[in-house]
Amino acid sequence: MKEVCVVYHSGYGHTARQAAAVAEGVRRVADVNCTEIPVGELEHMESGHWAELDSADAIIFGCPTYMGAVSMDFKRFMEATSGRWMEMKWHDKLAAGFTNSGSQNGDKQNTLQSLVSLASQHGMVWISLNLMPGNNSTTGSVDDVNRLGSYLGAMAQSNVDAGPDVAPPEADLETARLLGQRVAECTHRWTA
Ligand SMILES: Cc1cc2nc3c(=O)[nH]c(=O)nc-3n(C[C@H](O)[C@H](O)[C@H](O)COP(=O)(O)O)c2cc1C
Repeated sequence: MKEVCVVYHSGYGHTARQAAAVAEGVRRVADVNCTEIPVGELEHMESGHWAELDSADAIIFGCPTYMGAVSMDFKRFMEATSGRWMEMKWHDKLAAGFTNSGSQNGDKQNTLQSLVSLASQHGMVWISLNLMPGNNSTTGSVDDVNRLGSYLGAMAQSNVDAGPDVAPPEADLETARLLGQRVAECTHRWTA
């Protein structure tokens, strides 16, 4: 059985929906278990979730984009991983990432790049989204997967006056599921 952890922060529930969709995608693949871990549950270093991260085949990182960057709570988690970095405990683990924000753009790319950098500092192997961009032609629509045209990871956009019951939209949730599915499929190819 392969193990995938989805570590995420969500201030108001929108990115939590995206994280749940990523986990659904992981569970589409046979013989892959998925654990969803809100970063708040990692604040105490004795939390059992750290051991789950250490033994996972892949870790998928996700957070909202706040002020053009990773949210503060997620950044706290990033810095808390430095002890793992000292021992290169996560080297050769698979990694991927996602982010959600209010604007179509909103500087989400900067957040994904920070997640790539986090994974790279740990010697992890980054898995891209691998979906052609949607919504970029006369026959495309906002209902396309990858409607925001990302490559590094999954992006979602939640209207700022919409609750997490309706945002992000289904196209972004399916994009998130496809990322989770891809990471799960990669665990079967990457680890013995
Ligand atoms: C402090 C703060 C900063 C934000 N900065 C951005 C931003 O830089 N770009 C953007 O598009 N949206 C920004 N937003 C909007 C959030 O990204 C958006 O509401 C998102 O859906 C929140 O996700 P959450 O419910 O998981 O916290 C910001 C929201 C907050 C509270």
